[in-house]
Parts: sequence; structure tokens; C-alpha cells
Amino acid sequence: MSKISRKGIIIAGGTGTRLHPSTIATSKQLMPIYDKPMIYYPLSVLMEAGIREIMIITTPLEQINFKRLLGDGSKWGVSFTYGIQNAPRGIAEALIIAEDFLNGEHCVLILGDNLFYGDPFSSGLEEVMSTGEGANIFGYRVNDPSRYGVVDFDKSGRVLSIEEKPVAPKSSYAITGLYFYDGNASKYAHTIKPSGRHELEITSLNQIYLSNGLLRVKILRGGVTWLDTGTHKSLFEAAQFVSVLQSRQGIRICCPEVIAYKNNWITKSDVMVLARDLEKSGYGDYLMKVCDS
Ligand code: TTP
Repeated sequence: MSKISRKGIIIAGGTGTRLHPSTIATSKQLMPIYDKPMIYYPLSVLMEAGIREIMIITTPLEQINFKRLLGDGSKWGVSFTYGIQNAPRGIAEALIIAEDFLNGEHCVLILGDNLFYGDPFSSGLEEVMSTGEGANIFGYRVNDPSRYGVVDFDKSGRVLSIEEKPVAPKSSYAITGLYFYDGNASKYAHTIKPSGRHELEITSLNQIYLSNGLLRVKILRGGVTWLDTGTHKSLFEAAQFVSVLQSRQGIRICCPEVIAYKNNWITKSDVMVLARDLEKSGYGDYLMKVCDS
């Protein structure tokens, strides 16, 4: 299977009101999940998928802080372009903001507050990365589907319906914050009308693909973890998850430096330079260990 070249978009704006007062003076996606900023986790998904051209969409006020953290991406062998969302007008607006950046190419959109972890996920990604026309979403079994977009599908994995926060969900499968689109996504996003909550809903964009018969779903099963981090409780649980996993296995997950190194985008001496700046937190020691193993 040959991979189709795709650009990445991380949407990291929003208001983070469910995390107030913690997010009054900072962006949710800059808050830590245990030992690294939240945005490292979705960024790692894109980098693991081999994506090197990435647009990071933020609020106007916070852009400077994301730039301080991430720079232009060259230290990790990738290229970051920054986009601004002036008001939280919905996730689908990302495809409009990124229109020039995408220039009609295929893309992967990921929410800045989503954490994915697990090996089967990478194998599933491989297959989806090679699928050209249409859109791919990912379903994940949850015990409270009403809080999410919900996907219903038949035995062959064909999507039957998608609904945003349904009172009576047709399935237990939430739609995760990872979306693969073909080159038509920006064009379709322009045709979406704002919802009752005045947002361009990503579900509306997915509905367009569904009505064209071009929406596929891949179910992320056991062995894969998907966490969202929008409330203090879920943020705390995500931090616990990362902490337990890392101390049990003696690894650190979702380190962009490590992924860049393993992808041969940066050299051992590049990692050593990055590690020296992070010496005091233990993160740097880990980077050095990875290079020496
Ligand atoms: P949400 O959790 O739906 O919204 P939020 O982050 O503003 O938080 P809250 O509900 O507590 O006010 O957003 C999911 C992700 O998408 C998150 O990473 C922020 C991002 N997002 C935007 O960047 N712009 C938007 O217009 C919306 C709705 C979300």
C-alpha cells in the first residue's frame, strides 16, 4: 500500500471554559498532561503518521506562546505554519482557515486536546493513510456516547449515521478527534451553515461526505486508548494514565524529539542538543537514553 501525501492540521483554539479558572490566562492545549504540554500528544499522532507539514491553529492571543514552545518545527525536522481562529466558530472552520495551506491536498485534522495511545492504532493508520477519495473517521467505544458525536455502522464498517451529542445514541461509539479528508474538505466546509450553537460543526462536514457515500469509519478497539482532556477530571485521569504507563515501562510516550529521531528526520547529535536544554526535568535524560540505546 502506498501512502498518500497529507498535510496535518492541529486545531488548538477554543475557550476551554470547562477548565476555568485554569485556562483563563493560558490555552488549554499548553497545559501539561503529566510531563509535557497537551499539544505534544496530537502532534505525536501526526508525526507518527509521517506528516511533516503541519498547520497549528490557535486564538490570536495565544499564538505567540505556541510559537515560543514549538517554533518553526525545524528542531524536530518538521515545518509548522500558524493559523488564527479569531473566535471559536467551530472545528470545521479549521478547513477554511487552512485552505491556502492545504492548497487542495489531502489532510489529517486532529483536535489539540485529544490523546491517542496504542500500537494497533499505528497499523490502522497505515491503511487509512493509503485511502484516497473521501473521509475517514475513527470510532471508540465509550460508556457515555451522548457527550460526543456518535457513529452508527453496519457489519462491514459502512457508516449508517452520525449524530452530534444525541439524547438517544444509536451506538456506543464516539467519533474521536481525528479526521482524514481528501482534497475537497475546504470546499465543502464553505458550504456548512452554523449550528444552533453558532458553530461550523465537524459533524456537518462529515455528513456531506456521508451523503456522497464517501465516509468510512475505523473502530479503535482494545489496546488503543483515546482520552479527551476537556475537564479537570479527564485531564487529571489523562495525566495519571501517562504517569502510570511511563513509570511502569520506563519510557516516555509522545515525545516529538523521539519520533523525529526514529523517523530519521533529525540526527543523534540534534537530539543531544535538545536534551541538554531539558536536563533538569528528567525529560532531557530520557532523550539521551533513547539515543544511547
Ligand atoms: P471543545 O472541548 O469542544 O471546546 P473548548 O476547547 O473551547 O472547551 P470548552 O467546551 O471547555 O469551552 O474543543 C475541542 C477541541 O477543539 C479543543 O482542542 C479546542 C478546539 N476548538 C477550536 O480550536 N476551535 C473551536 O471553535 C472549537 C469549538 C474547538
